[in-house]
Parts: sequence; C-alpha cells; structure tokens
Amino acid sequence: MALTHDRIERNTGLLIILVVLVVAVGGLVEIVPLWFQRSTTEPIAGLKPYTALQLEGRDVYLREGCYNCHSQMIRPLRAEVLRYGHYSVAGESVYDHPFQWGSKRTGPDLARVGARYSDEWHRLHLHNPRDIVPESVMPAYPWLETAILDGKDVAPKMRALRTVGVPYTDGDIEGGEAAVAGKTEQDALIAYLQNLGILLKSSN
Ligand code: HEC
Repeated sequence: MALTHDRIERNTGLLIILVVLVVAVGGLVEIVPLWFQRSTTEPIAGLKPYTALQLEGRDVYLREGCYNCHSQMIRPLRAEVLRYGHYSVAGESVYDHPFQWGSKRTGPDLARVGARYSDEWHRLHLHNPRDIVPESVMPAYPWLETAILDGKDVAPKMRALRTVGVPYTDGDIEGGEAAVAGKTEQDALIAYLQNLGILLKSSN
C-alpha cells in the first residue's frame, strides 16, 4: 500500500515515527558538519587558555551563578554589536568547558566586559553594586573579598582540562598552585572578568 498523506495522517504511530526520522536526519545534517568545521573547532588567533587565577575566577563565576543573569554571547545584530562590540564567535570558546553562551540577560552581556572597567571599579561593584549603579538589582558579593584561595585543586583542574584539549603545559600546571595561593576569590573573579572578550574587543 502506498505511503500517502492520507494514510500517514490517520495513523499517529506512523506519523510520529516518520517525524522523528525527518527531524533526526535534519538535525544531523545541521549539527555534524560543525564538528569538523575549522571555524567552530579551532581557537581564534591569539587565544590562550585561562591562567590558573582566571580559571579559579571562572569557577567562582559558575559557583555564584552569575550566568543566571549574564549571558556571554553577542548576537550578530546591529544593535548588539553597537552596544557590546564584535559578535561572539565559536573559536573564542573552544577552551571553555562548559562555555557561558546563553540568553539570560537580567544584567548586560559580559562577553566583552574585559578591560572595560578598572579592577577597582569591579571591587566596588562586587562589594555592593548599588554603590556604583543605584538602581542595580545585582546581588552584593562581599564574602569574595575575604575568601582566600589555597590553590590546592587548581593543578588537578588544569590536568583535567588538558585531557579535553586545553593546551596547558607541564609548567603551567606545576606553577598553578603558587599562582593562586593567598589570592582572594575576588582577585580571581576580577582576573577572569578582565580577560573576557579582549581579543575581539576593538574590532567591531
Ligand atoms: C540577579 C541578577 C544578577 C546576578 C546574579 C549577577 N548580576 Fe551582574 N549585573 C546585574 C545587573 C542588573 C547589572 C546592571 C547594573 C549594574 O551594573 O549593577 C549587572 C552588572 C554587572 C557588571 C557590569 C557590566 C557592564 O557592562 O556594565 C558586571 C561586570 C557584573 N554584573 C558581574 C557579575 C558577576 C561576576 C556576578 C556573579 C558573581 C554577577 N554579575 C551576578 C544582575 C546580576
């Protein structure tokens, strides 16, 4: 019997199977080439893995849930590019596990926030955002100022990242603990923020 529309639309089971098949093939055609395209798998020129301190800062960023209010993904739309700078490209995030793209913007996108403000600005802002932006709804993070890092787990983290392709050298890993020990979580977070998006910052 021929597979006519009439027959398919009257038979829900068959319709579901065929829809799943079509979506699966369509998905694969879109997704699989991305695994092999240089523009999505190769780091952009000049991209460096996070330093030990930036890496610890990134973990503070994740732990505190900053991503719940801040995307790091500038769309290639005129208004976005004028506001934030060059749109985000996949090659910026190849060393990020997991990357921090997203769409939640209670606060502004942070993909190009690096070098926009001084460290001192960030210290005051993280201590109490309302001291700088009176109408801000961002929470204060004063405890980051007194939480001292011992750096004990940074080398294992770097080693783990190396297994998924982040090019840390043995020297980076050995020096990780010393680079971090004694610094505050706030120092680390600011080191992370100041590095965000600086490679593509000026070229919008
Ligand atoms: C409840 C939502 C919320 C959370 C959670 C949050 N923020 Fe914000 N953030 C905002 C808002 C709203 C603004 C804009 C007002 C301001 O500057 O305070 C902002 C502004 C910022 C800015 C300035 C951006 C710019 O371009 O001017 C930075 C940097 C920032 N946040 C970092 C962080 C970090 C780091 C964390 C986690 C420790 C965090 N935020 C958590 C809402 C949030």
